[in-house]
Amino acid sequence: MRFDRSAQLVGSSEPISHLRKELERVARADAKVLITGESGTGKEVVARQLYALSSRAHRAFVPVNCAGLPETLLESELFGHVKGSFTGAFRDKPGKLEVADEGIIFLDEVGEMTLRMQGLLLRFLETGEIQKVGAERTGSRVNVRTITATNRNLREMVASGEFREDLFYRLNVFPVRVPPLRDRADDIPSLVWQFVDEFSRTFGKRIDSIPRKDMEALQHYAWPGNIRELRNVVERAMIIANGTRLNIQLPARSEAAGPAARRSLKMADVERDHVRSVLESTSWRIRGLGGAAELLGLQPTTLETRMIKLGLSRPRP
Ligand SMILES: Nc1ncnc2c1ncn2[C@@H]1O[C@H](COP(=O)(O)OP(=O)(O)OP(=O)(O)O)[C@@H](O)[C@H]1O
Ligand SMILES: [Mg+2]
Repeated sequence: MRFDRSAQLVGSSEPISHLRKELERVARADAKVLITGESGTGKEVVARQLYALSSRAHRAFVPVNCAGLPETLLESELFGHVKGSFTGAFRDKPGKLEVADEGIIFLDEVGEMTLRMQGLLLRFLETGEIQKVGAERTGSRVNVRTITATNRNLREMVASGEFREDLFYRLNVFPVRVPPLRDRADDIPSLVWQFVDEFSRTFGKRIDSIPRKDMEALQHYAWPGNIRELRNVVERAMIIANGTRLNIQLPARSEAAGPAARRSLKMADVERDHVRSVLESTSWRIRGLGGAAELLGLQPTTLETRMIKLGLSRPRP
């Protein structure tokens, strides 16, 4: 993922001001924080802000994506391993928890951990001791602050037995919810201009105005892919742009600010438009975290069947 390390929490809307205050309060507490929010809302940006505001800001910030790795690799990534513990383990390797000593570990997508990994994490949180893969004895103790993030509903996962209740309560000392972009439409102009500035530098273009109706349409759109989707839309517009006036097209024309009365009210049409705009927000990625199927709350195969029925297919480049 491309990530701007300096990314600040842009915006002055009520939800984001509230979030900012909460982050200042929570950062100082040196307690565990669980960040929740839809895909693309800025959970990683929030985690880095917490770090920057914390008393550990001069120590390490170590991010680990728990969804990216198979269980055994994640275990060795977090806890490290000793030489010879598995094929390819040519030497002792410290885990990320050891690297993060005195600092902060950021466990992203924590809801994707297997139950066994959840057990190992819980044991670590209880004792602070690191058990390397293949080690006979428990190793060193570390002092690490844990920040976790997920776009899953962990309470539901606890209820369905997919997430350990004891671990949930341990991680959820300070819950921080990052609002979806549709709840902070006031921030859209400043976000748009921030991205315009960013891409102006990347593409060597100069923009000094955006049509008012385009900006208004952006503020009325529901943004299923949140800030990441907005950033993609601005990037696409900047690629096409010529001249200093930037026209910005919404992901789906049908969602644009046109009067509702002119839109078809037929269920199939509404459904097709909605499914298309969600697909466009994920660049037509159906599967996986943040994929269209997940956003729509459907099984990927169900979505594929429905796409065929609705006559939707990925446009050829
Ligand atoms: N408040 C903000 N101001 C400016 N840029 C932001 C802000 N929040 C997020 N972004 C940008 O939006 C994109 C998505 O943010 P981020 O990766 O933190 O989201 P996320 O919630 O972790 O998403 P996912 O659940 O898909 O991992 C990044 O490019 C990030 O730099
Ligand atoms: Mg993320």
